[in-house]
Amino acid sequence: MTTRLCFVCLGNICRSPTAEGVFRHLLAQRGDGTGFEIESAGTGAYHEGEAPDRRSTATAAQRGITLTGAAARFDAEDFARFDWVVAMDGANKTDLLARAPTEQAAAKVVLLREWDEHRDGPHDLDVPDPYYGGASGFDDVLDICLRSCEALLDDLEARARG
Ligand code: 4NP
Repeated sequence: MTTRLCFVCLGNICRSPTAEGVFRHLLAQRGDGTGFEIESAGTGAYHEGEAPDRRSTATAAQRGITLTGAAARFDAEDFARFDWVVAMDGANKTDLLARAPTEQAAAKVVLLREWDEHRDGPHDLDVPDPYYGGASGFDDVLDICLRSCEALLDDLEARARG
């Protein structure tokens, strides 16, 4: 059975393409190419069609991770295409829940940092938006995505095994 995931941030050019690239990288490392379908999207459409932000792409490349894709907006009908809709921060989650057409759709929405063992307590659930900040913000996003995606993938592989 294939598990279908969509990572969602605001613009779909920084955080969610990073999470998508990191998740694909981990799948390749584990030789698990078939069990998952991965996409990313944004709650906003400001950057529709654009490639990932160069700063995100450069930060990922330093760690041997390739970012791909063109920004797309996550719409109500997209819920049907995924098992998990993984939001990068609380505002993304609120926007997604407002867009969810059914309770079943709403139940697919989770926050990536629910899987981050290094988060600073139960309220530190946001992947901070790096867009208007300096280079260290992009490094932080990458570190958070690596830790959280590793744990998320462990969890999903364990669920798939039953
Ligand atoms: P992202 O970052 O949600 O991680 O892709 C942002 C990208 C663009 C904007 C905000 C956040 N923006 O306001 O254009």
